[in-house]
Amino acid sequence: TTPTEAELIGKNEVLPIYQPRQKYSHKGTFGHALIIGGSYGKIGAVTLASRGALTIGAGKVTAYTPKCGYLPLQIGFPEAMVITDKDEEKITSIDFNISPNVIAFGVGVGSDKQTITAFEVFLKTNKTVLVIDADGLNILSKKKSLLKLLPENTVLTPHPKELERLIGQWEDDFDKLEKTKAFSKQYKCIVVIKGANTITVFGDKFYVNTTGNPGLATAGTGDVLTGIITGLIAQSYDALAATIFGVYLHGKSADVLIENLGYQSFIASHIIEGIPLAYLDLF
Ligand code: APR
Ligand code: MG
Repeated sequence: TTPTEAELIGKNEVLPIYQPRQKYSHKGTFGHALIIGGSYGKIGAVTLASRGALTIGAGKVTAYTPKCGYLPLQIGFPEAMVITDKDEEKITSIDFNISPNVIAFGVGVGSDKQTITAFEVFLKTNKTVLVIDADGLNILSKKKSLLKLLPENTVLTPHPKELERLIGQWEDDFDKLEKTKAFSKQYKCIVVIKGANTITVFGDKFYVNTTGNPGLATAGTGDVLTGIITGLIAQSYDALAATIFGVYLHGKSADVLIENLGYQSFIASHIIEGIPLAYLDLF
């Protein structure tokens, strides 16, 4: 169940969201996430997101990347399957014959014209739940007409700059929240305002996360968050519950680990190692 009243999200609020595993489950029970991302020099982004999705518990993960992503992914993260674009360095078409139950788009994709067109073509026929991050959000900002094509309950995970491109400049935190609510209502999407106290906005409702620390201020931590939320949706958490829970676990992982790692040396991959500890901390 998703919290209805609570604004501050801590352990007591996420416990009712958590779905325990049943004995007679199999990998099909936990869904199939497709992560579309990467471009030359940014294959790490799609690798991090894929690792996040599988480690949070998705049954299967497929990464969709340009050809140059094939070897790094298959060697760097053998648990994921890989589908490649026909282009070596960037995504130029989105074409697959699998049936994922959630799709993430955007981490590391860059902003090549062909990538933008591929995303546009994809949105016109796609019916699967979406999580959109990074350059995927920047494409939406550049072509606002695409926002109307998003399926209901699409999850958008902007950092402050990406949010500004989507909703325009704000005067103060209150104004930012009001503008985000209006945007969320207009496009019926879930917006994650990332930062030190990440806020998940859905229409007039909003949820302020209480986990996380400055160790997370390092490259790639957002990519892992995208994977985590996507991996929870794969397991059939609804998009809002997955977002609230995912943001919580992402921050909790960093909180548990920081005691041994310190803020300076914390890197995005550590979040993935801390996911088991974040789950265990629930009990
Ligand atoms: N306290 C708590 N959490 C923090 C803090 C902090 N001080 N600073 C950052 N975080 C968290 C955010 O809430 C978010 O979950 O770390 C994550 C950072 O996400 P992004 O800003 O998206 O960072 P990153 O993963 O490096 O993005 C990779 O994608 O969005 C683009 O421009 C970005 O090119 C970059 C790439
Ligand atoms: Mg990011």
